[in-house]
Amino acid sequence: MNTVFEVYKKACQKLENIQKDEINVRILLCYVNKYSEMSEFYLKKDQEVRSIDLFNELFGRYLKGEPIQYITNEAYFLGDIFYVDNRVLIPRMESEEVATYAINKAIELFGNSEVEIADICTGSGCLGIELAKHLNCKRLFLTDLSLDALEVARINCEKFMNQLPKYNLRNGDGLSPLYFEKKCSPNIIIANPPYIIDKNAVDKSVLNNEPHLALFTDDNIKIYKDIICDASKFDNDPILLVLEISDEIYPLLKEFINTYCPMWKVEYIKDINNKWRIASIIVTKKK
Ligand SMILES: C[S@@+](CC[C@H](N)C(=O)[O-])C[C@H]1O[C@@H](n2cnc3c(N)ncnc32)[C@H](O)[C@@H]1O
Repeated sequence: MNTVFEVYKKACQKLENIQKDEINVRILLCYVNKYSEMSEFYLKKDQEVRSIDLFNELFGRYLKGEPIQYITNEAYFLGDIFYVDNRVLIPRMESEEVATYAINKAIELFGNSEVEIADICTGSGCLGIELAKHLNCKRLFLTDLSLDALEVARINCEKFMNQLPKYNLRNGDGLSPLYFEKKCSPNIIIANPPYIIDKNAVDKSVLNNEPHLALFTDDNIKIYKDIICDASKFDNDPILLVLEISDEIYPLLKEFINTYCPMWKVEYIKDINNKWRIASIIVTKKK
């Protein structure tokens, strides 16, 4: 008999760095045995593994470097489980800080009033969906240049359907698919655009597995500039625009905003690792 604990022990022997990776063996065993919580791993460690062949296949993929989230099709974000696969970026902890900031700032600005939310470069949809769940959202717009990514966002919208208002998925560059949409009038725009300029700075597992369209920018901050310029074309006043940034993007964006939008209230915020992570812009009509 292959008990959960025996299989776990054998698998751990194959790992180079047990301290770092053994939790993923437990995650895979919970997945194969359909345990909904890690506590079941300990409580049911003497049960038989439902399918040793399936475990071996998944563990093999993991040993070859595939991220655990793509293998289980699950990624945690602000306490929720999002569907993910290799068509989208795996939601990052840093983006949880961005979403949390945006939720708090939106409450400060709009209280409990009804708001429309647009998540640009949505990927899995994690940012827009979490904002819509936590705010009094009457309509949610999710856009992405990648049709494949939008399919994943659709899966997540359907997954959280009972907690969401009407949602619209649109394909296209930056805010442009919404700018031409008469119905759309966002009060809050959030975006986590691809922002890595230096391809050498990326971990091999990320480089080999995650979509490059989600990671890299070939034209510095063009997408940020486009989103900022297009945000001002909507009628609402004010609009809260929250952008995820990086240490690389921060000086370029700051220079652009200081030059072209000095009239807007802008805040730059570092994350818990002391890296520049959030640009928060209150877009107003005042000159
Ligand atoms: C860094 S990922 C962010 C995904 C998700 N919002 C998150 O925070 O996990 C960037 C996403 O932007 C999309 N993208 C890249 N260039 C774009 C563009 N010019 N306009 C709209 N989306 C774009 C990619 O397909 C990818 O899904």
